[in-house]
Parts: sequence; C-alpha cells; structure tokens
Amino acid sequence: GEFTVQQPGWASSVRKLLVGLVLRWASDFGPTEGPEIPQAKGSIQAVGGQAFFLPLYDLFLSYGGIFRLILGPKSFVIVSDPAIAKHILRENSKAYSKGILAEILDFVMGKGLIPADGEIWRVRRRAIVPALHQKYVAAMIGLFGEASNKLCEKLDAAASDGEDVEMESLFSRLTLDIIGKAVFNYEFDSLTHDNGIVEAVYTVLREAELRSTSPIPTWEIPIWKDISPRQNKVKAALKLVNDTLTDLISICKRMVEQEELQFHEEYMNEQDPSILHFLLASGDDVSSKQLRDDLMTLLIAGHETSAAVLTWTFYLLSKEPRVMAKLQDEVDTVLGDRLPTIEDMKKLKYTTRVINESLRLYPQPPVLIRRSLDNDVLGKYPIKRDEDIFISVWNLHRCPKHWDDPESFNPERWPLDGPSPNEINQNFSYLPFGGGPRKCVGDMFATFETVTATAMLVRQFNFQMALDAPPVEMTTGATIHTTEGLKMTVTRRTRPPIIPNLESKVVNVNSVPTVVSEG
Ligand code: HEM
Repeated sequence: GEFTVQQPGWASSVRKLLVGLVLRWASDFGPTEGPEIPQAKGSIQAVGGQAFFLPLYDLFLSYGGIFRLILGPKSFVIVSDPAIAKHILRENSKAYSKGILAEILDFVMGKGLIPADGEIWRVRRRAIVPALHQKYVAAMIGLFGEASNKLCEKLDAAASDGEDVEMESLFSRLTLDIIGKAVFNYEFDSLTHDNGIVEAVYTVLREAELRSTSPIPTWEIPIWKDISPRQNKVKAALKLVNDTLTDLISICKRMVEQEELQFHEEYMNEQDPSILHFLLASGDDVSSKQLRDDLMTLLIAGHETSAAVLTWTFYLLSKEPRVMAKLQDEVDTVLGDRLPTIEDMKKLKYTTRVINESLRLYPQPPVLIRRSLDNDVLGKYPIKRDEDIFISVWNLHRCPKHWDDPESFNPERWPLDGPSPNEINQNFSYLPFGGGPRKCVGDMFATFETVTATAMLVRQFNFQMALDAPPVEMTTGATIHTTEGLKMTVTRRTRPPIIPNLESKVVNVNSVPTVVSEG
C-alpha cells in the first residue's frame, strides 16, 4: 500500500512483477507443503520396443499406488491407485492435459480429439459424440458381420489348405476395413488385397508407435529429419493418406449437397452412414485441417485398439479350452447361422464377458498419459504443474488386492445376470475405455465390433496355437502387440445341429460336440 502511493507507476509494476516472479519461483522450485511422493530406486531400461509397463508393475508392488520414477533428466509420476486415477480422470480432469502424448502424435493427429486439449477438445468432442448415436452403432453391426465374414472366408481357405495363419495381422486388417467404412465410407479392402493406401496407413501407424516408444527423438534432428529415407517415406505416406482424406471429404460434401437434408438427432444416410457424413450433414463448422485431424484420429483410435483386443482374446481362448467351449455353446444357441444383430448384443452375455476379461488382462492402451496444468494433490501428496503422469491401467487391472487370482482369464468373475463391468461400477479399478470427460467415444462401437467378430469366428472354427508358433511375448507401441505374431492353426468346427431335430432318430456321426479337453 504505502509504496504504491509514493513511487511512480512503473516502479510499482516492476515490484509487482518481481514479487510475482519470486512467488512463481518458490512454487516451481521451492519446497512443497506435505509429504513427498515415494521415489522408486533402481533403473528401468527404457529400451524401445520393450513392454515398459512390466517393470512398472514390480515397482507398484514395492512402492504402492503412487511413486516417482526418474529417467535421466525426466521425472514421471506413476499412478496405480483407483482413487487417484479417478481424481485425475474425472474429479479434477480440467487440471490435466495430454502432455507428451499430444507432442508425439502431433505429426499425425494434429489437434484431433485424442491429443487436443482445452477449448478445441471441448468443441470437437461436442461435434463428434452425437455422430456415434444408437442408430449408427446398430447399423454398424451389419458392417462388423460382413467384414468378419470375409475373414471367415479367408480362414476357411487356410483350413482347407492346412495352412497356419498369423492372426494378429489379420485382425489388424479386419478392423482397418471396418473403421475406414465406419468413419469415412472408404473401402480399404485390406483383407482381400494390399494397395498403396493400406501400406501408407501402416507406415504412418508404425511411425506413431515408434515415436511413442523411442527414447531419442531422431525425427526432430535438423537436416537429418529432411534427408532420412525413413522420414521421407513417412512424409510421403502421410501425404497420401491426407490427400485421400481430402478427396473423401469432397466426395461426401457433394453427396450432402445433393441430399434433401432433414437433419435430426439420429440422422443417418442409409447409403453412407459414416461419421464423416453425419458431421457434414450436421453443418459442423470446422476447418478442413481440423476435420482431417479428427478423421485420422478416429481411424487410428478405432483400428489398432480393436485389433489388439481381438488378438489377445484369441490368445487367451487358446489357453483356456473351458472358456472356449462355453463361448461356442452360447454363440451356437444365440446366433445359429444368422449374422448378428443389435438384439443379439444383449443376448451374447458370455461373449461380452470374454471381451471384458480380455480387456482387463490386456488393456489397450496399457497406460494413460497426462500432464498437470496446475498444482494439485494426489492422495496425500502435493504435486506441481508440468508433472508428467502415467496412469497404469495394467497395474489397476492386475492389482492383487483388488482382484481374485488376477492373472487368470476368468470371464465368470462378473456374474452374467449382473451389469457389464465399467469404470463406474468398478470404481476406477477397471478402466477399459478410460473414464471422466475424456472417456473413449467408441466404447459401444468397439464392444459390439469385438463381440461380433469373436462370435462369428468361434462359431465356425476352432483355434489352437500352431505347433511351430513363436512364443507369444509382448511389446508396446500405443497398444500391446505380440513380438512375433500370433500363429494359429484353424480348423473347421464340427458341431451338433444348432436346433436339435427331436423327431429324427438318425444319429449324425459328425454331430459330436467338439469340447476340447483341458490340458
Ligand atoms: C479414447 C480405449 C475403440 C475413439 C480412448 C481411451 C481409451 C480408449 C482407454 C481414453 C484415453 C485417455 O484417457 O487418455 C479404446 C479401446 C478400444 C477403443 C480399448 C477398442 C476395443 C475406439 C473406437 C473409436 C475410438 C472404435 C472410434 C470409433 C476414441 C476417441 C478417444 C478415445 C476419439 C478420445 C476421446 C477424448 O479424448 O475425448 N479409447 N478405444 N476408440 N477413443 Fe477409444
């Protein structure tokens, strides 16, 4: 008070600025009130490609639900506690951004819905969520069925020829075909043949994964980034995908212009039910760059995740013949020979539990990334702004205190007559689709997609690990991959008639149930 009256205005401003700076300095570097987050000792090998979430599990068992990890000049807070996860994701979600994730993904997703923060995120989320309305998701089940059928044809040919199949890449193609059609009405047709655009999509995806696991950002090195052959290949691939998206946007714009539009909440164009068509028809006022970023984000978000879920589901099923037999039994009873419909989704309860449980054991992605925008308190520990935080969903999903026999694949852990498990009814101990305002927008889509594909495949075939299959180990990009693929032997099922013919006394020798014995 007394200084401001006597001193010239500028001096007062300088003083305020200095005090402000000192206070800011104190809050950034000074001691914080309250206990310090336990710091994990020992080293973590940050080797690219290795499943980095595995050593975090051991540290969780020794240090508990929140600890700090120092990696060279960087420090990370690792969260494996459901209440703290809930605080970050839901209760105080406004105080967190996507941090490193947004930086890494910028080259491919720009300001798309996954990396975007703040106002851009709010506006885009509000535009995109309505596109995935119930009628849209119901229509997509037909698409899931048709695409899965193509995969069945491929597997049938392999079964005839006695050839083993690498399922991980087939699932990747299945979900690429589905998401292309579902998001921007494009036929990648990658299950049937390879083409330039499919290869370009994979080049871009592999680069995104490499960047998210590489300890040294070689793609930022001046000059090198312009002459490196790999970076040039990535740039060309990105350009091809972006040009294709631009074309698809203009084709769709023309369709919308020629339409007699009556836009409403559950609007859907029968010829083109895609998300892109919904967005354009809704009059979504957005730059074409932003629209491309969003489409690219949806493509990547909905492709690798679902493929990984299917891969690990079939791996788990091959280890548990008991679960497989029960699953096949449900599918035979509910579906018979039909393609699945939206009504079947409610009835395929055990199939849904199989997917729920697969997502518990292999969450995609295994770790959620955030950065604090403000000081906050996590549990009893104060943290400052600019902390990089990893929420280990892997640890939450395998916490020995929370789960009975956490390592076992046991879809029965959630009763069939109860609700499907989600982050709310499991109080953030189970986060298959995240939680809070940034929860996955495709959770329903993805659940029905993986349920449909699983049901259709196990109805027709038995799956076993191939005799000469490489060991199934994990590596991480954005999702959990196998290190050397999932090589399986696929055989056609012989099964009892779906509707037993009680009149007929003729016993069909082929109608022996194929319940694979344990062991
Ligand atoms: C966000 C999982 C399929 C679109 C997320 C998040 C998770 C997740 C855990 C939260 C990320 C975070 O909080 O940092 C999955 C899994 C899927 C799947 C396991 C498959 C089984 C899909 C599909 C789509 C999609 C099919 C699109 C059709 C998105 C988008 C976000 C998101 C746009 C960002 C939402 C936002 O930040 O507002 N997903 N997802 N996902 N997912 Fe999915």
